Amino acid sequence: MALKLYSPAKINLFLRIHAKRPDGYHGLSSLFQTLDLADEINYTILSPHESDKISCTDSRVPTNESNLVFKAAKLFREKTGKKFSVCIDINKKIPIEAGLGGGSSNAATTLWALNRLLETSVSEEELMTWGAEIGSDVPFFFSHGTAYCTGRGEIVEDLPALSTKDVWLAKPSIGLSTVSVYKAYKPLEVEQRDPKLYLQKAITNNLIPFNDLEIPAFELLPMLKNLKQKLINSGFNDVTMSGSGSSFFCFGNGQINDQDLFVCKTKFHNRQKNSWY
Ligand code: C5P
Repeated sequence: MALKLYSPAKINLFLRIHAKRPDGYHGLSSLFQTLDLADEINYTILSPHESDKISCTDSRVPTNESNLVFKAAKLFREKTGKKFSVCIDINKKIPIEAGLGGGSSNAATTLWALNRLLETSVSEEELMTWGAEIGSDVPFFFSHGTAYCTGRGEIVEDLPALSTKDVWLAKPSIGLSTVSVYKAYKPLEVEQRDPKLYLQKAITNNLIPFNDLEIPAFELLPMLKNLKQKLINSGFNDVTMSGSGSSFFCFGNGQINDQDLFVCKTKFHNRQKNSWY
């Protein structure tokens, strides 16, 4: 029993951060979108007498218990009571520590794959709820690829696909840890943009990207501010950091000729009902 699936990257078309909550998470309001940049993951079910095996083409990705795919397999066993082990081979295309949701996407993909391979018929709504136990960004991937997410990210309102847009991604070799960026975030004193208004704009073809985490990320890594300016100067209309960074997504026609950056031209990509990305 084997299955190969694509595990897509996401960007936050806009990201408003609210106050820190008593549970330590920050409230947020964000429009998430999946891309056709995706990891390829091969799943093979093993006998329960073996142990789970994870491999990844990117040697910086841990292949032990800290990998979210391992957590997803463990959670699936606990929730369903099924006895199995699994071999998960990840062909990494999504840069890590980029704010592109690679780890969360891999975890969601694993829950979806195991449900298929083990014929457990768990609803996608249920898998979405389980995903929130793994990480705040995991539930989003059970939408159809465009969703307005609130709470700590786990409250997902699935939306119709936006009109397809080409998007350039650019990421410096240095990454940022989500925890450190949220830690450095200070609530803004000026009046904030109303996310509901920006959602309406996006739905009516007037997307205005922004990200409240740019300020703390630029404080932690000042070169990001220069990189953003450089990308704007190279001809893009919109350059915005994704999630907690350190990648930027760019709309328009710019030219990126920087050997030190990960650069990739991709586009919005949504999934069809009852199939994965
Ligand atoms: O949910 P996840 O494990 O991905 O979150 C990682 C860390 O990011 C949290 O421990 C927290 O420090 C920060 N975070 C946050 N507010 C959110 C999501 C994440 O402060 N809404």
